[in-house]
Amino acid sequence: MSHRSAREYLIRIAHRNMNRTFSKTSIAALLLAFIVIVVGAYVRLSDAGLGCPDWPGCYGQITAPDDFHEIQKASEVFPHSEVNSAKAWKEMFHRYLASSLGLLILAMAFLAIKNRGREGQQLYLPLALVALVIFQGMLGMWTVTLLLKPAIVTMHLVTGLLTLSLLLWTALKHHQVFSAKTEVASHIRNWSRLALVILAVQIFLGGWTSTNYVALYCPDFPTCQGQWWPQTDFPEAFTFIKEIGINYEGGTLTNEAGVTVHLMHRIGALLTFFVIGSLALVLIRSSDKTLRNIAYFISGFLCIQISLGIANVLLLLPIQIAVSHNAFAALLLLSLVTLNYRTSISTTKRISSPEEKTEKTEKNGNTLNTATTDTTAGLKTA
Ligand code: HEM
Repeated sequence: MSHRSAREYLIRIAHRNMNRTFSKTSIAALLLAFIVIVVGAYVRLSDAGLGCPDWPGCYGQITAPDDFHEIQKASEVFPHSEVNSAKAWKEMFHRYLASSLGLLILAMAFLAIKNRGREGQQLYLPLALVALVIFQGMLGMWTVTLLLKPAIVTMHLVTGLLTLSLLLWTALKHHQVFSAKTEVASHIRNWSRLALVILAVQIFLGGWTSTNYVALYCPDFPTCQGQWWPQTDFPEAFTFIKEIGINYEGGTLTNEAGVTVHLMHRIGALLTFFVIGSLALVLIRSSDKTLRNIAYFISGFLCIQISLGIANVLLLLPIQIAVSHNAFAALLLLSLVTLNYRTSISTTKRISSPEEKTEKTEKNGNTLNTATTDTTAGLKTA
């Protein structure tokens, strides 16, 4: 082997190894992102979101204050906050996990840059993920320094779920999980996109319900405070820019505003159920096995998620149910992202309008027969 071809061979091996490392890192980052989101929900819902009053350290240390001396020192430095070691550890555990995720995403971007231009190597998504994770870190800091301001905490939840979704998209693309040589009806592709948008709005409303602490403003179901439509206050309910310097832990909304937020999340759930549920039903009837399988996951997650939401209310928000409601929102989102990825890489099959069908069949001299078959095919290629 000549010197030159030996060098090329070694470069090829190095790139192949980098590609494999990117594969493994993207899967690890995806799993870790899911864990970070669920642990983050646990920290917040167990009222440990302000377990450390400063950022990125905890009472000025890299670990939570533990022994007597550390607790005493922390109380001296932060006289206005009550040191609670258990809450501080919960918060720091979440920060360690989130930092590890940040490192994995940086590693993905580094590998993507090193391996750029090679077949199958993505560049823009890993770079976008770095920007997103930096923004997420800043939101994490503002969550603490702006004392759990609802808009910041909700944005933190939404950005976390967006990071998770992009990680899944990157992994699906890198591993070429689905074949591009498939067809999907254009209305199914559009319906999948609409479903994703509606789910995103519903997740935002859920986050707004949780970060404003209005989960128990309607302690009954399906009515709210014994009424179908109690007194509401939309302007206050959806005021996003709020005073700085107030501690928002426990919530500050009036009864009318809190009820409005809660009701909107319930109405959003109804809409989500119809749009996503009907899409899943159509896909379950499709002849495409992959779409059918995704649809089974979507319908399963949707039913569990709605049951958990109702259980949240009726059982007065036990932490396990509240955290599971967060986890299943993430799983439902992942299943819809998978569906959207699958429908976006397939070529679209346009279903002919009735006029076009008649024209076509007239040409074939077999009007009635073919028109009937076409309609079924349209559904089947969904
Ligand atoms: C597909 C439908 C649904 C989705 C995607 C969804 C999503 C979410 C999300 C993302 C949160 C925020 C979780 C967190 O802060 O960690 C949330 C909170 C909440 N959801 Fe839902 N939800 C749905 C249906 C429902 C239903 C049907 C109900 C009840 C009737 C409900 C009741 C609640 C309550 C009470 C909270 C606040 C929990 C808390 O304070 O921790 N949800 N929802």
